[in-house]
Amino acid sequence: MFGFLRSFSALLLAAGLAQASSPNPMACSGVCGNAHDPSILQSTDGTYYRFSTGGGIAIHTAPALTGPWTYKGEALSSSKIDGNTDLWAPDVTLVGSTYYMYYSTSSFGSQNSAIGLATSTSMNVGTWTDHGSSGVSSKSGGTYNAIDGNLIWDGSAFYLSFGSFYGDIYQVAMANPPLKSTGSSYNIEYNSTGTRPSEGSFIFTWGSYYYLFFSSGSCCGLDTNRPTAGNEYKIMVCRSTKVTGGFVDKTGKDCRASGGSLVLGSHGTVYAPGGQGLYMDPTYGPVIFYHYVDTTIGYADADKLLGINKVSFSSGWPVLS
Ligand SMILES: *[C@@H]1O[C@H](CO)[C@@H](O)[C@H](O)[C@H]1NC(C)=O
Repeated sequence: MFGFLRSFSALLLAAGLAQASSPNPMACSGVCGNAHDPSILQSTDGTYYRFSTGGGIAIHTAPALTGPWTYKGEALSSSKIDGNTDLWAPDVTLVGSTYYMYYSTSSFGSQNSAIGLATSTSMNVGTWTDHGSSGVSSKSGGTYNAIDGNLIWDGSAFYLSFGSFYGDIYQVAMANPPLKSTGSSYNIEYNSTGTRPSEGSFIFTWGSYYYLFFSSGSCCGLDTNRPTAGNEYKIMVCRSTKVTGGFVDKTGKDCRASGGSLVLGSHGTVYAPGGQGLYMDPTYGPVIFYHYVDTTIGYADADKLLGINKVSFSSGWPVLS
């Protein structure tokens, strides 16, 4: 019996079907909505800043990760690239003493997109300078969609991972400081199934690995257009010892050949988690933050809530608690 159970669970593991742990998000107080595609980090004085999709990028702050979160205003009034006043998917990183915010300007379902860059030395409302294009853009019919930028430093160079649907996730080397892309972009993740539904990549370094997190499935408008079960947003991961490629899932399957292991999917009253990022928190250790639908509240984009969980990498793969 034990032997059977052991080999059965070994089989499940080998098949990559092992149940991802699906804990509920931590408590959140204050403004926990208005949290689509969150980017969270602390300023040097310890205050937590949260950036999210919509308008000129919403800014909320809190004294602790769990809140209370307060709305502060928007980072920008519009994008210098095209005047767009509805910007998406902020990604904020401290580089030296300057915060770099990559944002997307696009329209839903369109490949006419660009990733813009704004900088600030404090992250506060009124301090952001828009530099316009990061050099990453796309047009209808191209191989990728230039949205959802995420900056990573590998110890010697900057890289921006980006993209969604179409050709899925791409990456490009950035100049130092990372104001512009340099060279050409290359694919790091591709799901050949269905609508090639990967987007919202985020690379997090832990131990000797780069973990490529991404969101797969239908993100938005879930109140009016809900996909078949399992095709709503969910959080996936692959890992590599190099930042520039070689990402594989738990079974060793190449992430560019539809590989990817589930990190967090719908469970209980949590539906369609995604738009994730990670942060090394001084209190909790590594945490993952994301948006999700609470099915007891509502499925509209405006109803989506901020979710945060602790993450352990002790098994070599992210496990949420
Ligand atoms: C690939 O896409 C299909 C839907 O088209 C989805 O069911 C599957 O989970 C995705 N796989 C990965 C590894 O993201």
